[in-house]
Amino acid sequence: MNLNIAVLAGDGIGPEVIEQAIKVVDAVCAKFNHEIHYTPGLTGAAAIDAVGNPYPDETHEICMAADAVLFGAIGHPRFDNDPSAKVRPEQGLLAMRKKLGLYANIRPTLVFPSLLHKSPLRTDLIENADFVCIRELTGGIYFGEKGRNEARDKAWDVCEYTKEEVERIIRLAYQYAMARKKKLTIVDKANVLETSRLWREVGQSLEKEFPEVTTEYLFVDAAAMRIIQWPEGFDVMVTENMFGDILTDEASVISGSMGLMPSASIGLHTSVFEPIHGSYPQAAGKNIANPLGTVLSAAMMFEYAFKLYDEAAAIRKVVDQSLEEGYVTVDIAGTAPSYSTTQVGDWLASRI
Ligand code: IPM
Ligand code: MN
Repeated sequence: MNLNIAVLAGDGIGPEVIEQAIKVVDAVCAKFNHEIHYTPGLTGAAAIDAVGNPYPDETHEICMAADAVLFGAIGHPRFDNDPSAKVRPEQGLLAMRKKLGLYANIRPTLVFPSLLHKSPLRTDLIENADFVCIRELTGGIYFGEKGRNEARDKAWDVCEYTKEEVERIIRLAYQYAMARKKKLTIVDKANVLETSRLWREVGQSLEKEFPEVTTEYLFVDAAAMRIIQWPEGFDVMVTENMFGDILTDEASVISGSMGLMPSASIGLHTSVFEPIHGSYPQAAGKNIANPLGTVLSAAMMFEYAFKLYDEAAAIRKVVDQSLEEGYVTVDIAGTAPSYSTTQVGDWLASRI
């Protein structure tokens, strides 16, 4: 196959982890005889510095023309500590999501047998945990009107959803549930929020289209608790943008390292594959960042964007091996010997 991939490395550790994912993707393409072509695009703080825009039109065109986007991370402390900054790197990520119509963010919670002991949670609570969170990605409070009054002593962020937006994401979640253990948890705050009541209404109206799926509704505060207390109780979880942001960070703790968690964002145009961790500026340039979340995102890319399942499986297999053999970065190794970002990348590529 001919694969055209846009590569948006972004900020912080983004370029380092992307470099390792590319080594692995190259190795997979060599093994399975695919022709691969990468087109780099500027985004985040790097793009602000170069052209004053965190998601330049040129980058958008590169993404639109590609078969898939491999994305690193976005964010820079220079902006985090400056609430008055007019342009922020994160706006690039949000603009990309909106312009590519990426309404669904698929975040699996993976548990690796060789890492069970690294989790802050007891092994018996998590060993069979296997759920996927489907986060709505182009609506809600992230994209509603924001503002300040004239005196700038009052601020607001509006949370809005249309029935169509909710229906499209819940229907997708039902399709995932059908292909899995047929259980769907719809997470909201319907005891307080009107948008959540719309979510619940839409959920109830879709239930009859998927009679084989058991539907459960859970308030977000209770969901936060249940993720820790009984993660094995979930199969597919669907929720609005900000609840999904928060709950998936929480869920990533189950596996023992956030650096391991991949994601796929899918929707109207080219799909984007990125680790769920951020730009981790403290580690940037130190060659210590864990590349596995990005490498596993590349596996999701083969699966979702190209329907190349053997290729995806080959990547997952070497990742499992690196965990089993302890060929890992310091976040996972702890006091055991650890390897650098590039060493892990080289090792994975050679094992492919
Ligand atoms: C994520 C990130 C982003 C989000 C930030 C960087 C804007 O936390 O992808 O989860 O909140 O969506
Ligand atoms: Mn997040």
